Amino acid sequence: MEQYLCNPLFKKLGSIADEQGISVFVIGGYVRDIFLKRQSKDIDILVIGNGIDYAEKVGKALGTAVSIFKNFGTAMLRYNDLEVEFVGARKESYRSNSRKPIVEDGTLEDDQKRRDFTINTLAISLNKDSYGELTDPFKGIEDMDLRLIRTPLDARETFSDDPLRMMRAIRFAAQLHFVIDEEAINAIKLNKERIGIVSKERVTDELNKIILSECPSVGFEYLFDTGLLELIFPQMAQLYGVEVINGKGHKDNFYHTLEVLDNVAAMSDDLWLRWAAILHDIAKPATKRFDPLHGWSFHGHEDKGARMVPKIFSQLKLPLNEKMKFVQKLVQLHLRPIVLAQALITDSAVRRLLFDAGEDIEALMLLCHADVTTKNEYKKKKYRQNFELVKQKLKSVEERDQIRNWQPPVSGNDIMELFNLKAGKEVGLIKNYIREGILEGEISNTRDEALKFALKKAGELGLKPVRQLL
Ligand code: CTP
Repeated sequence: MEQYLCNPLFKKLGSIADEQGISVFVIGGYVRDIFLKRQSKDIDILVIGNGIDYAEKVGKALGTAVSIFKNFGTAMLRYNDLEVEFVGARKESYRSNSRKPIVEDGTLEDDQKRRDFTINTLAISLNKDSYGELTDPFKGIEDMDLRLIRTPLDARETFSDDPLRMMRAIRFAAQLHFVIDEEAINAIKLNKERIGIVSKERVTDELNKIILSECPSVGFEYLFDTGLLELIFPQMAQLYGVEVINGKGHKDNFYHTLEVLDNVAAMSDDLWLRWAAILHDIAKPATKRFDPLHGWSFHGHEDKGARMVPKIFSQLKLPLNEKMKFVQKLVQLHLRPIVLAQALITDSAVRRLLFDAGEDIEALMLLCHADVTTKNEYKKKKYRQNFELVKQKLKSVEERDQIRNWQPPVSGNDIMELFNLKAGKEVGLIKNYIREGILEGEISNTRDEALKFALKKAGELGLKPVRQLL
């Protein structure tokens, strides 16, 4: 193991511990990540004794400030780009109504068994006489080889003690491409309601990590199958299922959404674009209709979906800022490029799409590309070809008309001065005429043509200019 502890900090930590006559270990995520060949900047140091006293000695030796969290019995310092956390070995017992355990001093093994998963229990000694020795009482290495998420104790106890671990199990499975042990799955099903005692922020933090993993559908399938999704994000769980009337069914919107999400994830790391994929069809259950002649329809699901976004964001404690607006816009517009691709593509339709999507046009095109999940190769090819046409058209129209960052070439102030008007309905009307004129292609996107057009439209409203045009 020594070769993995090449940072001189580890030897230093060991020698300070030797001077104090105490045992110290590096434990948890850092050790796990050594075996998984992942980079980790967080180091957890376990002290058999008082973690805070030891951290203070280390801080003094390194000439570094130490932050102390008395309530948690932990301390932290930064060393170069590393964050080192110190904790005394503990034994924990939990009560039924809280994630906060009753804590007593414990041995290394007491501390290892209170941890969430076997792969997170591995400890490496830093003291000189046993430097680099691995302690693995719960077969964490074996589970790493089997790519298995398993709890060191009875899974029912581990999840009941700290229900956030149910989310963590699924998050690790998604991030590491591991499978969750069957006993653990059953224990999650049994304890799922206890997720209610965990703060929404923490649950969403884990959910976002699942969403940011390479293949997020893995995590969502676990969330759905264990019943957790229904509790933390019921709107998404409701996408599941196929209804059949007169032998006609529709697609399963849950699995379709997961496919779109994975497609987006393969093309972009952006969390909010991934959220747009999750929410693009969220209003399908609420807008579903069956017509004996035409079959299933979901008319208006994009509008209703966009209206649902703020409530979902607030329920999940996601930020109610421009990120939410971005997601809302993409949900609202997600059908537009596809509709364009199916019809004869007019310049004015392209200009309108550019106007409505603005700076987010590329994100929208990516989402729409990901939304084509048909298994019919002929249809897929056709969609993709038309899509390329829309892309080319978007490019050439944008080069010519510059709509995506559109600013009115004639401002409200210009109009007020020109016709000696006060701010009000007429100014708004004239501005709308100009915008519509440009989008419809009646006039070009230039100040000159826009002013002339304003004059004509104002004349129709009975207004006369009070000064010359500039
Ligand atoms: N731990 C736990 N139960 C929790 C949270 C953490 O048992 N609810 C333990 C695990 O042993 C874990 C260690 O505390 O390895 C450190 O936790 P944390 O830093 O949250 O996770 P990491 O395992 O380091 O992974 P990541 O940094 O990806 O969150």
